[in-house]
Amino acid sequence: MQIAAILVAAGSGSRFGAELPKQFLTIAGKPVIRHAAEALAGYVSLLQPVGEAGPIDAALLGVPGRLPAVPGGATRQDSVLAGLEALTPFAPDIVLVHDAARPVIPAGTIPALLAALKECAGAIPAAPVADTLKRVARGIITETVPRAGLFRAQTPQAFRFQTLLAAHRSGLTGTTDDASLLEAAGETVEVVPGSDDNIKLTFPEDLIRLERIMAVPPSPAALIARVGTGFDVHVLESGRPLFLCGVRVPHDEGLAGHSDADVGIHALCDAIYGALAEGDIGRHFPPSQASWKDADSAQFLTHAAERIAARGGRLANADVTLICEQPKITPHAPAMIARLAALLGVEPGRISVKATTTERLGFTGRGEGIAAQAVVSILVPD
Ligand code: CTP
Ligand code: MG
Repeated sequence: MQIAAILVAAGSGSRFGAELPKQFLTIAGKPVIRHAAEALAGYVSLLQPVGEAGPIDAALLGVPGRLPAVPGGATRQDSVLAGLEALTPFAPDIVLVHDAARPVIPAGTIPALLAALKECAGAIPAAPVADTLKRVARGIITETVPRAGLFRAQTPQAFRFQTLLAAHRSGLTGTTDDASLLEAAGETVEVVPGSDDNIKLTFPEDLIRLERIMAVPPSPAALIARVGTGFDVHVLESGRPLFLCGVRVPHDEGLAGHSDADVGIHALCDAIYGALAEGDIGRHFPPSQASWKDADSAQFLTHAAERIAARGGRLANADVTLICEQPKITPHAPAMIARLAALLGVEPGRISVKATTTERLGFTGRGEGIAAQAVVSILVPD
Protein backbone atom coordinates (compact mmCIF):
# COMPACT_ATOMS: atom_id res chain seq x y z
CA MET A 1 0.00 0.00 0.00
CA GLN A 2 1.50 3.33 -1.04
CA ILE A 3 1.08 6.28 1.32
CA ALA A 4 1.83 9.82 0.14
CA ALA A 5 1.72 13.15 1.94
CA ILE A 6 1.02 16.66 0.77
CA LEU A 7 2.69 19.39 2.77
CA VAL A 8 0.95 22.68 2.09
CA ALA A 9 3.34 25.61 2.45
CA ALA A 10 2.09 28.24 0.00
CA GLY A 11 0.54 30.58 2.57
CA SER A 12 1.96 34.01 3.32
CA GLY A 13 1.35 33.94 7.09
CA SER A 14 -0.52 37.26 7.11
CA ARG A 15 -1.86 36.79 10.67
CA PHE A 16 1.62 36.00 11.98
CA GLY A 17 2.98 39.12 10.34
CA ALA A 18 6.67 38.20 9.92
CA GLU A 19 8.60 39.05 6.78
CA LEU A 20 9.42 35.37 6.18
CA PRO A 21 6.32 33.14 5.89
CA LYS A 22 5.90 31.42 9.27
CA GLN A 23 6.56 27.90 7.95
CA PHE A 24 10.19 28.88 7.25
CA LEU A 25 10.91 30.26 10.74
CA THR A 26 13.32 28.26 12.89
CA ILE A 27 12.21 26.48 16.06
CA ALA A 28 14.53 24.19 18.04
CA GLY A 29 17.22 24.52 15.40
CA LYS A 30 15.16 23.63 12.31
CA PRO A 31 12.64 25.34 10.03
CA VAL A 32 9.02 24.70 11.06
CA ILE A 33 8.32 23.00 7.70
CA ARG A 34 11.24 20.63 8.20
CA HIS A 35 9.90 19.49 11.58
CA ALA A 36 6.58 18.77 9.85
CA ALA A 37 8.25 16.93 6.95
CA GLU A 38 10.41 14.79 9.23
CA ALA A 39 7.36 13.82 11.29
CA LEU A 40 5.60 12.65 8.11
CA ALA A 41 8.63 11.00 6.49
CA GLY A 42 8.56 7.95 8.74
CA TYR A 43 5.12 6.96 7.42
CA VAL A 44 5.10 7.92 3.76
CA SER A 45 7.06 6.97 0.67
CA LEU A 46 6.17 10.17 -1.24
CA LEU A 47 6.20 13.68 0.17
CA GLN A 48 4.78 16.41 -2.06
CA PRO A 49 5.50 19.96 -0.84
CA VAL A 50 3.38 22.77 -2.23
CA GLY A 51 4.66 26.35 -2.38
CA GLU A 52 7.70 28.36 -3.41
CA ALA A 53 10.38 25.89 -4.54
CA GLY A 54 13.47 27.88 -3.43
CA PRO A 55 12.89 28.12 0.32
CA ILE A 56 11.11 24.74 0.46
CA ASP A 57 13.97 22.88 -1.24
CA ALA A 58 16.48 24.57 1.07
CA ALA A 59 14.49 23.64 4.18
CA LEU A 60 13.78 20.04 3.17
CA LEU A 61 17.22 19.03 1.89
CA GLY A 62 17.70 15.29 2.44
CA VAL A 63 14.19 14.50 3.70
CA PRO A 64 13.42 11.00 2.33
CA GLY A 65 10.70 10.63 -0.33
CA ARG A 66 10.57 14.35 -1.08
CA LEU A 67 9.29 15.32 -4.54
CA PRO A 68 10.08 18.70 -6.14
CA ALA A 69 7.80 21.43 -4.76
CA VAL A 70 4.88 22.49 -6.95
CA PRO A 71 3.42 26.02 -6.83
CA GLY A 72 0.41 26.59 -4.60
CA GLY A 73 -2.81 28.42 -5.28
CA ALA A 74 -4.65 31.45 -3.93
CA THR A 75 -6.37 29.44 -1.17
CA ARG A 76 -5.30 26.46 0.92
CA GLN A 77 -7.81 24.35 -0.97
CA ASP A 78 -6.19 25.33 -4.28
CA SER A 79 -2.78 24.43 -2.87
CA VAL A 80 -3.98 20.96 -1.78
CA LEU A 81 -5.47 20.37 -5.23
CA ALA A 82 -2.13 21.32 -6.80
CA GLY A 83 -0.48 18.70 -4.60
CA LEU A 84 -3.08 16.06 -5.47
CA GLU A 85 -2.65 16.68 -9.19
CA ALA A 86 1.12 16.37 -8.84
CA LEU A 87 0.69 13.01 -7.07
CA THR A 88 -1.81 11.63 -9.60
CA PRO A 89 0.86 9.90 -11.76
CA PHE A 90 1.97 7.92 -8.69
CA ALA A 91 -1.63 6.85 -7.87
CA PRO A 92 -0.97 6.38 -4.14
CA ASP A 93 -3.58 4.50 -2.10
CA ILE A 94 -3.63 6.95 0.79
CA VAL A 95 -2.76 10.62 1.10
CA LEU A 96 -2.05 12.58 4.26
CA VAL A 97 -2.63 16.33 3.93
CA HIS A 98 -0.64 18.37 6.42
CA ASP A 99 -0.08 22.07 7.16
CA ALA A 100 3.59 23.02 6.96
CA ALA A 101 2.79 25.40 9.82
CA ARG A 102 2.19 22.47 12.23
CA PRO A 103 5.64 21.29 13.34
CA VAL A 104 4.42 18.82 15.99
CA ILE A 105 2.65 15.62 14.98
CA PRO A 106 2.21 13.66 18.23
CA ALA A 107 3.45 10.06 18.05
CA GLY A 108 0.10 8.26 18.02
CA THR A 109 -1.67 10.48 15.50
CA ILE A 110 -0.65 8.98 12.14
CA PRO A 111 -1.04 5.32 13.23
CA ALA A 112 -4.54 6.12 14.52
CA LEU A 113 -5.46 7.83 11.24
CA LEU A 114 -4.21 4.92 9.14
CA ALA A 115 -6.11 2.45 11.31
CA ALA A 116 -9.32 4.50 10.90
CA LEU A 117 -8.93 4.48 7.09
CA LYS A 118 -9.58 0.73 7.06
CA GLU A 119 -13.25 1.58 7.70
CA CYS A 120 -13.72 5.12 6.33
CA ALA A 121 -12.66 7.21 3.35
CA GLY A 122 -11.25 9.88 5.64
CA ALA A 123 -9.96 10.44 9.16
CA ILE A 124 -8.74 13.54 10.98
CA PRO A 125 -7.28 14.35 14.39
CA ALA A 126 -9.49 16.70 16.39
CA ALA A 127 -9.59 17.92 19.98
CA PRO A 128 -12.76 18.77 21.91
CA VAL A 129 -13.49 22.46 22.45
CA ALA A 130 -12.94 23.37 26.11
CA ASP A 131 -13.95 27.04 26.20
CA THR A 132 -17.48 28.37 26.05
CA LEU A 133 -18.16 29.60 22.52
CA LYS A 134 -19.55 33.04 21.72
CA ARG A 135 -20.58 34.49 18.41
CA VAL A 136 -19.42 38.11 18.46
CA ALA A 137 -20.13 41.01 16.10
CA ARG A 138 -18.42 44.39 16.49
CA GLY A 139 -17.31 43.46 20.03
CA ILE A 140 -20.80 42.42 21.18
CA ILE A 141 -21.95 38.87 21.83
CA THR A 142 -24.77 37.93 19.54
CA GLU A 143 -25.05 34.28 20.55
CA THR A 144 -23.63 31.61 22.85
CA VAL A 145 -22.97 28.53 20.76
CA PRO A 146 -23.44 25.24 22.64
CA ARG A 147 -20.03 23.58 22.61
CA ALA A 148 -21.25 20.02 23.22
CA GLY A 149 -19.94 17.81 20.43
CA LEU A 150 -17.72 20.53 18.97
CA PHE A 151 -14.15 19.67 18.04
CA ARG A 152 -11.16 21.60 16.67
CA ALA A 153 -9.90 19.99 13.45
CA GLN A 154 -6.16 19.49 13.06
CA THR A 155 -3.86 17.99 10.45
CA PRO A 156 -2.55 15.65 9.11
CA GLN A 157 -5.86 14.58 7.66
CA ALA A 158 -5.84 11.18 5.99
CA PHE A 159 -7.85 10.06 2.98
CA ARG A 160 -8.16 7.42 0.36
CA PHE A 161 -6.39 9.20 -2.47
CA GLN A 162 -8.99 8.73 -5.21
CA THR A 163 -11.85 9.83 -2.92
CA LEU A 164 -10.09 13.06 -1.93
CA LEU A 165 -9.04 13.78 -5.52
CA ALA A 166 -12.64 13.36 -6.72
CA ALA A 167 -13.94 15.59 -3.90
CA HIS A 168 -11.43 18.31 -4.76
CA ARG A 169 -12.24 18.11 -8.47
CA SER A 170 -15.97 18.42 -7.74
CA GLY A 171 -15.70 22.20 -7.77
CA LEU A 172 -16.93 22.89 -4.22
CA THR A 173 -15.08 25.93 -2.80
CA GLY A 174 -14.72 27.88 0.43
CA THR A 175 -13.45 25.09 2.70
CA THR A 176 -10.53 25.48 5.11
CA ASP A 177 -9.79 21.79 5.49
CA ASP A 178 -10.06 18.67 3.36
CA ALA A 179 -12.47 16.72 5.53
CA SER A 180 -15.16 19.34 4.71
CA LEU A 181 -15.04 18.30 1.06
CA LEU A 182 -15.65 14.64 1.93
CA GLU A 183 -18.40 15.58 4.36
CA ALA A 184 -20.08 17.57 1.58
CA ALA A 185 -19.78 14.54 -0.69
CA GLY A 186 -21.53 12.38 1.92
CA GLU A 187 -18.43 10.33 2.81
CA THR A 188 -17.80 9.15 6.37
CA VAL A 189 -14.89 10.88 8.10
CA GLU A 190 -13.73 9.52 11.44
CA VAL A 191 -12.18 11.56 14.23
CA VAL A 192 -9.12 10.31 16.12
CA PRO A 193 -7.82 12.06 19.26
CA GLY A 194 -6.06 15.34 18.51
CA SER A 195 -3.52 16.95 20.81
CA ASP A 196 -2.97 20.40 22.28
CA ASP A 197 0.67 20.04 21.21
CA ASN A 198 -0.38 19.94 17.55
CA ILE A 199 -0.34 23.72 17.28
CA LYS A 200 -0.76 25.50 13.96
CA LEU A 201 1.67 28.40 14.03
CA THR A 202 -0.73 31.26 13.35
CA PHE A 203 0.02 34.17 15.72
CA PRO A 204 3.39 35.25 17.22
CA GLU A 205 2.39 33.92 20.67
CA ASP A 206 2.12 30.41 19.17
CA LEU A 207 5.87 30.54 18.60
CA ILE A 208 6.51 30.79 22.35
CA ARG A 209 4.24 27.80 23.08
CA LEU A 210 5.84 25.74 20.32
CA GLU A 211 9.35 26.63 21.47
CA ARG A 212 8.43 25.40 24.94
CA ILE A 213 6.99 22.12 23.64
CA MET A 214 9.84 21.47 21.22
CA ALA A 215 12.75 22.61 23.38
CA VAL A 216 15.56 20.09 23.22
CA PRO A 217 16.40 19.20 26.85
CA PRO A 218 19.92 20.34 27.70
CA SER A 219 22.21 17.32 27.58
CA PRO A 220 23.80 16.63 30.96
CA ALA A 221 27.52 17.32 30.85
CA ALA A 222 29.30 14.13 29.90
CA LEU A 223 30.44 12.25 33.00
CA ILE A 224 33.52 10.09 33.14
CA ALA A 225 34.28 7.42 35.72
CA ARG A 226 37.40 7.88 37.84
CA VAL A 227 38.70 5.05 40.00
CA GLY A 228 40.77 5.27 43.19
CA THR A 229 42.28 2.77 45.59
CA GLY A 230 43.20 3.12 49.26
CA PHE A 231 45.11 0.99 51.72
CA ASP A 232 45.71 1.44 55.44
CA VAL A 233 47.02 -0.45 58.46
CA HIS A 234 46.74 0.20 62.20
CA VAL A 235 48.19 -1.65 65.15
CA LEU A 236 45.87 -3.49 67.56
CA GLU A 237 46.34 -2.51 71.21
CA SER A 238 44.50 -3.46 74.35
CA GLY A 239 42.66 -0.74 76.23
CA ARG A 240 41.38 1.09 73.13
CA PRO A 241 37.89 1.02 71.59
CA LEU A 242 37.72 -0.57 68.13
CA PHE A 243 36.13 1.52 65.36
CA LEU A 244 35.73 -0.02 61.93
CA CYS A 245 33.89 1.67 59.04
CA GLY A 246 32.25 4.12 61.42
CA VAL A 247 30.89 1.44 63.77
CA ARG A 248 32.13 0.63 67.27
CA VAL A 249 32.82 -3.10 67.26
CA PRO A 250 32.99 -4.98 70.62
CA HIS A 251 36.50 -6.50 70.91
CA ASP A 252 39.17 -6.89 73.57
CA GLU A 253 41.56 -4.66 71.62
CA GLY A 254 41.30 -1.49 69.60
CA LEU A 255 43.35 0.14 66.88
CA ALA A 256 46.11 2.55 67.80
CA GLY A 257 46.60 5.76 65.93
CA HIS A 258 46.49 9.50 66.10
CA SER A 259 42.77 9.66 65.40
CA ASP A 260 40.26 6.96 66.32
CA ALA A 261 42.29 4.82 63.85
CA ASP A 262 39.26 3.64 61.85
CA VAL A 263 41.30 1.78 59.28
CA GLY A 264 38.26 1.14 57.01
CA ILE A 265 37.33 4.79 56.75
CA HIS A 266 40.96 5.81 56.22
CA ALA A 267 41.33 3.41 53.28
CA LEU A 268 38.03 4.64 51.86
CA CYS A 269 39.04 8.31 52.16
CA ASP A 270 42.33 7.60 50.41
CA ALA A 271 40.48 5.84 47.61
CA ILE A 272 38.26 8.90 47.13
CA TYR A 273 41.15 11.37 47.25
CA GLY A 274 43.01 9.08 44.87
CA ALA A 275 40.11 9.00 42.39
CA LEU A 276 40.00 12.79 42.45
CA ALA A 277 43.81 13.03 42.30
CA GLU A 278 43.66 15.20 45.42
CA GLY A 279 46.43 13.66 47.50
CA ASP A 280 45.70 11.54 50.54
CA ILE A 281 44.23 11.69 54.01
CA GLY A 282 47.52 12.85 55.54
CA ARG A 283 47.56 15.90 53.29
CA HIS A 284 44.07 16.98 54.31
CA PHE A 285 44.39 16.02 58.02
CA PRO A 286 48.10 16.12 58.99
CA PRO A 287 48.81 13.77 61.96
CA SER A 288 51.17 16.48 63.25
CA GLN A 289 48.15 18.62 64.04
CA ALA A 290 46.90 18.10 67.59
CA SER A 291 43.29 18.76 66.66
CA TRP A 292 43.04 15.37 64.93
CA LYS A 293 44.08 13.46 68.09
CA ASP A 294 41.47 10.77 68.76
CA ALA A 295 39.33 12.47 66.11
CA ASP A 296 36.19 10.73 64.88
CA SER A 297 37.18 9.53 61.41
CA ALA A 298 33.62 10.21 60.26
CA GLN A 299 34.66 13.82 59.66
CA PHE A 300 37.43 12.67 57.29
CA LEU A 301 34.88 10.79 55.21
CA THR A 302 32.47 13.72 55.26
CA HIS A 303 35.30 15.88 53.94
CA ALA A 304 36.04 13.39 51.18
CA ALA A 305 32.33 13.40 50.23
CA GLU A 306 32.43 17.19 50.10
CA ARG A 307 35.38 17.00 47.70
CA ILE A 308 33.32 14.77 45.38
CA ALA A 309 30.48 17.29 45.47
CA ALA A 310 32.86 20.22 44.94
CA ARG A 311 34.06 18.57 41.74
CA GLY A 312 30.47 18.18 40.54
CA GLY A 313 30.76 14.42 40.86
CA ARG A 314 28.95 11.58 42.50
CA LEU A 315 30.05 8.29 43.97
CA ALA A 316 29.15 5.39 41.72
CA ASN A 317 30.24 2.73 44.23
CA ALA A 318 32.74 1.91 46.95
CA ASP A 319 34.07 -1.49 47.98
CA VAL A 320 35.93 -1.84 51.30
CA THR A 321 37.75 -4.99 52.40
CA LEU A 322 38.80 -5.37 56.05
CA ILE A 323 41.67 -7.81 56.58
CA CYS A 324 41.84 -9.46 60.02
CA GLU A 325 41.37 -12.77 61.87
CA GLN A 326 39.38 -11.21 64.71
CA PRO A 327 36.85 -9.76 65.27
CA LYS A 328 34.45 -11.36 62.78
CA ILE A 329 33.22 -8.58 60.51
CA THR A 330 30.20 -10.14 58.75
CA PRO A 331 27.72 -9.58 61.62
CA HIS A 332 28.63 -5.86 61.63
CA ALA A 333 28.79 -5.36 57.85
CA PRO A 334 25.17 -4.12 57.43
CA ALA A 335 25.66 -1.46 60.12
CA MET A 336 28.98 -0.42 58.57
CA ILE A 337 27.40 -0.13 55.11
CA ALA A 338 24.54 1.96 56.50
CA ARG A 339 26.93 4.26 58.35
CA LEU A 340 29.31 4.77 55.41
CA ALA A 341 26.36 5.40 53.07
CA ALA A 342 24.95 8.00 55.47
CA LEU A 343 28.31 9.77 55.78
CA LEU A 344 28.75 9.80 52.00
CA GLY A 345 25.13 10.78 51.35
CA VAL A 346 24.46 7.86 48.97
CA GLU A 347 22.12 4.86 48.90
CA PRO A 348 23.48 1.83 50.82
CA GLY A 349 23.34 -0.16 47.58
CA ARG A 350 26.41 1.76 46.37
CA ILE A 351 28.54 0.58 49.30
CA SER A 352 30.12 -2.79 49.98
CA VAL A 353 31.96 -3.82 53.16
CA LYS A 354 33.46 -7.28 53.26
CA ALA A 355 36.29 -9.00 55.10
CA THR A 356 38.95 -11.62 54.66
CA THR A 357 41.63 -13.27 56.76
CA THR A 358 45.20 -13.94 55.68
CA GLU A 359 45.08 -17.57 56.84
CA ARG A 360 46.90 -16.62 60.05
CA LEU A 361 49.89 -15.38 57.99
CA GLY A 362 51.62 -12.08 58.49
CA PHE A 363 50.78 -9.30 60.96
CA THR A 364 47.04 -9.54 60.40
CA GLY A 365 47.25 -13.31 60.77
CA ARG A 366 49.01 -12.92 64.08
CA GLY A 367 46.46 -10.36 65.25
CA GLU A 368 49.03 -7.56 65.51
CA GLY A 369 47.01 -5.19 63.41
CA ILE A 370 44.12 -4.75 60.99
CA ALA A 371 44.52 -3.76 57.34
CA ALA A 372 41.89 -2.35 55.00
CA GLN A 373 41.74 -1.69 51.32
CA ALA A 374 39.15 0.22 49.34
CA VAL A 375 38.25 0.83 45.73
CA VAL A 376 35.88 3.57 44.60
CA SER A 377 34.43 4.73 41.33
CA ILE A 378 33.42 8.37 41.05
CA LEU A 379 31.55 9.97 38.15
CA VAL A 380 32.76 13.47 37.43
CA PRO A 381 32.14 15.94 34.57
CA ASP A 382 34.69 15.41 31.83
N1 CTP B 1 -1.56 27.40 2.71
C1 CTP B 1 -1.25 27.12 1.39
N2 CTP B 1 -1.76 27.87 0.40
C2 CTP B 1 -2.55 28.91 0.67
C3 CTP B 1 -2.89 29.22 1.99
C4 CTP B 1 -2.38 28.45 2.99
O1 CTP B 1 -0.50 26.18 1.13
N3 CTP B 1 -3.00 29.62 -0.34
C5 CTP B 1 -0.98 26.59 3.77
C6 CTP B 1 -0.15 27.41 4.74
O2 CTP B 1 1.16 27.60 4.24
C7 CTP B 1 -0.22 26.62 6.02
C8 CTP B 1 -1.55 25.89 5.92
O3 CTP B 1 -1.98 26.05 4.58
O4 CTP B 1 0.82 25.68 6.10
C9 CTP B 1 -2.56 26.45 6.90
O5 CTP B 1 -2.91 27.78 6.53
P1 CTP B 1 -2.82 29.04 7.45
O6 CTP B 1 -2.50 28.67 8.82
O7 CTP B 1 -4.01 29.86 7.20
O8 CTP B 1 -1.51 29.77 6.86
P2 CTP B 1 -1.39 31.11 6.09
O9 CTP B 1 -2.46 31.20 5.08
O10 CTP B 1 0.01 31.18 5.61
O11 CTP B 1 -1.59 32.18 7.24
P3 CTP B 1 -2.62 33.40 7.25
O12 CTP B 1 -3.97 32.80 7.02
O13 CTP B 1 -2.44 34.01 8.60
O14 CTP B 1 -2.20 34.31 6.14
MG1 MG C 1 -4.58 31.22 5.67
